[in-house]
Amino acid sequence: MKRDTQHLTDPCVMVIFGASGDLTSRKLIPALYNLVCNGFLPQAFAVVGFARTSKTDEVFRQEMHDAVQEFSHATPINDQAWGEFAQCLHYCVGDYGKEEDYEALHRTLLQIDEQHGTHGNRLYYLATPPDIYPIIVEQIGHSLLCKECPGQWSRIIVEKPFGHDLDSARELNAHMHQYFQEDQIYRIDHYLGKETVQNILVFRFSNGIFEPIWNRRYVDSVQVTVAESIGVENRGSYYDHAGVIRDMIQNHVLQLVALTGMEPPVEFTADAVRNEKVKVLKALHVDHAHGDGTVRGQYGPGKMGQQLAPGYTQEQGVPADSQTETYLAMKLFIDNWRWAGVPFYVRSGKRMPKRVSEIAIQFKMPPLLLFSDVAAQHIEPNTLALNIQPDEGISLKFGSKVPGSGEKIRPVIMDFKYGEAFNSPAPDAYERLLLDCLLGDSTLFTRSDEVETAWSLITPVLQAWEGGSGSFIELYRAGTWGPKQADDFIQQDGRRWRIF
Ligand SMILES: NC(=O)c1ccc[n+]([C@@H]2O[C@H](COP(=O)([O-])OP(=O)(O)OC[C@H]3O[C@@H](n4cnc5c(N)ncnc54)[C@H](OP(=O)(O)O)[C@@H]3O)[C@@H](O)[C@H]2O)c1
Repeated sequence: MKRDTQHLTDPCVMVIFGASGDLTSRKLIPALYNLVCNGFLPQAFAVVGFARTSKTDEVFRQEMHDAVQEFSHATPINDQAWGEFAQCLHYCVGDYGKEEDYEALHRTLLQIDEQHGTHGNRLYYLATPPDIYPIIVEQIGHSLLCKECPGQWSRIIVEKPFGHDLDSARELNAHMHQYFQEDQIYRIDHYLGKETVQNILVFRFSNGIFEPIWNRRYVDSVQVTVAESIGVENRGSYYDHAGVIRDMIQNHVLQLVALTGMEPPVEFTADAVRNEKVKVLKALHVDHAHGDGTVRGQYGPGKMGQQLAPGYTQEQGVPADSQTETYLAMKLFIDNWRWAGVPFYVRSGKRMPKRVSEIAIQFKMPPLLLFSDVAAQHIEPNTLALNIQPDEGISLKFGSKVPGSGEKIRPVIMDFKYGEAFNSPAPDAYERLLLDCLLGDSTLFTRSDEVETAWSLITPVLQAWEGGSGSFIELYRAGTWGPKQADDFIQQDGRRWRIF
């Protein structure tokens, strides 16, 4: 195996709670395997899967082998690399609430320290449904598994969703702080692990040309779209309690807004970056000029391409009378000097015609149009589109003269594509985030005040919906861009949604 000592992390055991689940096989183990293959993990590294489902180390290893085969981008599997990595994988059967099972885990970890030389460093990963998080945290705390002896560290990664409203997020933060210091806690939002999302800051703060116009004097509006073509798949019962507002808007979409809107940090350190994100999240408000500033939708039956697609309420695990939104459009404002008066239109939905995540900065029109009426009709505003996925890149739209003697103007696009500019494939978001956590860098993880500030914006919207004073659920056909009301919503401001 290749070893890159420059980026080598400390020796460590990673304990995954809920290791029999989907996240472990789909994301975590493939990410760790890729890190091993790229030489980022030390020899003294081990993983302990902890869950109630009974299995042996051998069965766990075989299942993880199959998972890597299916989900890793570094395939076919390198037998030698896998053989070494498999020896680091262990499995511990236990009940999340039983003290004696944590004592057994503690003994296993001490044995692994001896066997693999992992020096007592611990990384705990909460990969169970969120209602189990407090129980696990408490048990880790009581069994002193989080205690940091001199020269050793212990960290914990918490999966999203972090709370389901402001009160529950505060409660979970307070609960975790009983046992862990803030700098031991890594709240994951996997969007922040995407190269294209990190590039928002690099693009903004390592180039001189855009920052001077990145403000209300030059920007007309911003649109953030996070569209999925899939439905709820087998997550119906989870999703019905979450809806798109908790599943996408509170975390991924607000993170994109924060990165787009934040001021330059004084330095590129975890706290300096997160201080700026918190400031911009605090300055956000939902526009209430028309209703509650939201449009809610739920997909009905429709067609995805040529395939018939069921409606949301026909999906497995979803009640037939569900009032959960699978689409949400919102208009936000940032109350600060840079952005006052610039609308941020955000939308996210399931069963959209296409999977796409994009931030589009639409600039103001020129102050005076010097061209004939006919030519001027074809002038469109300049738009800078940051394509997060799947066509990762950045494009700038501007008007160009159509060749010939007339004065025809047509929009053209200047395009940068990651895939064409760089030959190496981007690492999966979980690879980057796991590596950062192992290195003790929390820049790409959300801080307690950041999560709570995001919930402070979202919770009043939820309360208005629950109290019956918010927008109503509008049906849209699967395979379309959401309800008609969403088009009316933006058109009343003289703008329209981006077309993909
Ligand atoms: N899957 C993804 O791609 C993904 C993406 C983003 C975030 N997440 C988040 O990551 C976490 C784990 O996701 P996942 O998809 O792996 O979840 P999962 O498959 O539903 O659950 C993981 C494991 O938790 C245990 N578990 C399930 N229900 C339980 C219950 N009611 N009580 C106690 N234990 C239970 C099960 O293990 P045992 O029965 O063996 O104990 C299960 O194998 C969730 O919070 C999810 O929201 C997942």
